[in-house]
Amino acid sequence: MKRVLLAKSAGFCFGVKRAVDCVYGELENPEEELPIYTCGPIIHNEIVVKDLESKGVIVIDDDEKLKDIKKGTVILRSHGVSKKIYDQLQKNGVKIVDATCPFVRKIHKIVMKATEEGERVIVIGDRKHAEVEGICGWGGDNVITLKTEEEAENICFSIDEKVTIVSQTTFNYKKFDKLVEIIAKKGYDINVVNTICNATSDRQTEAREIAKQVDSMIVIGGKHSSNTQKLYEICKEECDNTYYIQTLVDLDTRQLQSSDSIGITAGASTPKNIIEEVQLHVREL
Ligand code: F3S
Repeated sequence: MKRVLLAKSAGFCFGVKRAVDCVYGELENPEEELPIYTCGPIIHNEIVVKDLESKGVIVIDDDEKLKDIKKGTVILRSHGVSKKIYDQLQKNGVKIVDATCPFVRKIHKIVMKATEEGERVIVIGDRKHAEVEGICGWGGDNVITLKTEEEAENICFSIDEKVTIVSQTTFNYKKFDKLVEIIAKKGYDINVVNTICNATSDRQTEAREIAKQVDSMIVIGGKHSSNTQKLYEICKEECDNTYYIQTLVDLDTRQLQSSDSIGITAGASTPKNIIEEVQLHVREL
């Protein structure tokens, strides 16, 4: 019998699980105000999104379209939304179910408070990412985003301004520290709030630990998922026989025959049932 090590941190993080559960919960709510919309796909996983669509959930991808929703329920995903969108939905009188991850919500509050106090706010992260767009939307013209050393070198505003620095939750720790260091050297009075979430780094650390101990390692996740790709690279460094699969269908069990121990991890958007299916199958080999 093979030894199977399943990473505890495999799959959904706390915030994503909460948001997905929230949509399924609303679908079962008999008093629900229909239709049910989600602000963007609730998760970057086609299988889950399609399943929800088949149950009647409508994904709204365009902020403009949100303005036209005058009835039903709108579920805000873990990334959160800007204040403008929130206010618009409230004005429209729709039922809002806020599944914004509490860690992201905390950043919104920091940005709002710093803005009220007249401070400059720097958000370190990818300005095109929905989470960062949402975060910026709780401030005003005082908010700037940056993610490269060059951008940090080039910031240019009065040295008398107080500065609050926050981060996108999935930003890299080392890069964040480096960028803060560059800004600090410019002589600004900075208040740094490291808002990076541990879920990603915990998943990576655990994957590495498991990959070190096993003969084969399976990484489950979407083809285009960058965090799964990263997990794969980490595991591959420690274990030559690392396999990247999307679902059980992709698993070539012949490759595992000679392995006594097999590790399993999964990217942030991989549903539990897919992980369990793979795990069960491997245990039965
Ligand atoms: Fe997930 Fe929330 Fe962290 S959505 S990655 S637990 S900030």
